[in-house]
Amino acid sequence: MPTRYTDAQLQALMEAICQRYSYDFRDYSLPSQRRRVNQALERFHCPDLPALQELVLDDAVAFGTLLQILTVPVTQMFRDPAFFRAVREQVVPVLKTYPSPTIWVAGCCTGEEALSLAIVLHEEGLLERSTIYATDINPQALATAARGVYPLHRLDDYGANYLAAGGLGQLADYYTVEHATVRFQQRLLDSINFADHSLSTDSVFIETQLIFCRNVLIYFNKALQERALGLFHDSLCHRGFLGLGSKESTHFSRFAADFEPLPGPEKLYRKRAPSHAASLYAGRQSHARNET
Ligand SMILES: C[S@@+](CC[C@H](N)C(=O)[O-])C[C@H]1O[C@@H](n2cnc3c(N)ncnc32)[C@H](O)[C@@H]1O
Repeated sequence: MPTRYTDAQLQALMEAICQRYSYDFRDYSLPSQRRRVNQALERFHCPDLPALQELVLDDAVAFGTLLQILTVPVTQMFRDPAFFRAVREQVVPVLKTYPSPTIWVAGCCTGEEALSLAIVLHEEGLLERSTIYATDINPQALATAARGVYPLHRLDDYGANYLAAGGLGQLADYYTVEHATVRFQQRLLDSINFADHSLSTDSVFIETQLIFCRNVLIYFNKALQERALGLFHDSLCHRGFLGLGSKESTHFSRFAADFEPLPGPEKLYRKRAPSHAASLYAGRQSHARNET
């Protein structure tokens, strides 16, 4: 579909949405903004961008629909199973050394990713002493996440993902079937605190040992990616872990040197010790060497 508007008009729409509804999409990547807005123009049968702008500013229900388009609420359980296998094998053993690990799933969408993590932690005997915060800006997605009820037909893929991720039983061990839906166990849901939090406008709210933020940064421009990575850097404890999506990375950001990739192709990183601590340690070592 041809682009029927200028970048300035697009920017004006995002600015107006920010002023009217306090959702800040101004620093989302331009190609992503264009794709979503093109979808919205078709969905609302709007002839041009000013018409779309007028509609969503006047009608909060229409804005709610636009929000579903702009936030791309697409997810899966055990998405990229090899990622979850790597978390189980490389991250969980370190998490077990903490008395009560805290984990943040940023951009959790409808909750499948946080539930997948809760299942891994349960199977590793760690869930009962862990706290999971799962955050998003999409209120509809968060409401679905808190219910833990999903259409039955999606479970076929999820069960295969669970096994490929190294699951120790069957995914069906964790839910009950109710008509055409499945309801995940309340004890899994009780371990997750679902909350509204924007990587665009909000601050760090907790110290964490592990953060997942997968398939979210791809929609941001460079400045917003830097902001989000800064939040993760500040939230993570000394030597904490960060998991990103398969097309995302800390490379080319100003935090590149602050995170070391774990072995393997998964986008798992570990926060490096601060360099001043490293040089201090080196100084003390050389001092000790001088003494002997
Ligand atoms: C494509 S989904 C990814 C879901 C999940 N992390 C996964 O990998 O399956 C992107 C999610 O990021 C959320 N999101 C977009 N912008 C955000 C922001 N500024 N702060 C927090 N979440 C955001 C969206 O609402 C959406 O639920």
